Amino acid sequence: PAFTDYQAESAAVSQGVVESNHAGYTGTGFVNYDNVIGSYVQFTVSVPAAGMYPLALRYANGTTVDRPMDITVNGAPAAPGVSFPGTGGWPTWVDRTVTASLTAGTNTIRAAATTSNGGPNLDRLRV
Ligand code: GCU
Ligand code: CA
Ligand code: CA
Repeated sequence: PAFTDYQAESAAVSQGVVESNHAGYTGTGFVNYDNVIGSYVQFTVSVPAAGMYPLALRYANGTTVDRPMDITVNGAPAAPGVSFPGTGGWPTWVDRTVTASLTAGTNTIRAAATTSNGGPNLDRLRV
């Protein structure tokens, strides 16, 4: 299938900053979540048909502590408490894939930190 990439640095960000100081990102950078509960990145994603879609979040976590996030779709919980474990270093990026139900047309997909460590650094969402 064909995939579409949605860069985190082009998404809506609450309590985070766009940075480019760790190599290996795609696009022009990544989002560094503020290390607080509730920091989030929100993507606007369009698909041609309703159905279940894999959502691949490309992230880095240079710590050894999980940075879990709640994934919501159109305001409803889609994948609560998704783990984003350490990747071995901030320049080491990994895809974390969850599957969620999307509606035909435009969908709002939010990845929100659930601990005071904030989220991992987030490069992109591939749908
Ligand atoms: C370091 C790192 C950031 C990261 C932060 C964190 O400051 O350079 O990219 O976001 O740690 O622990 O969240
Ligand atoms: Ca951070
Ligand atoms: Ca990016």
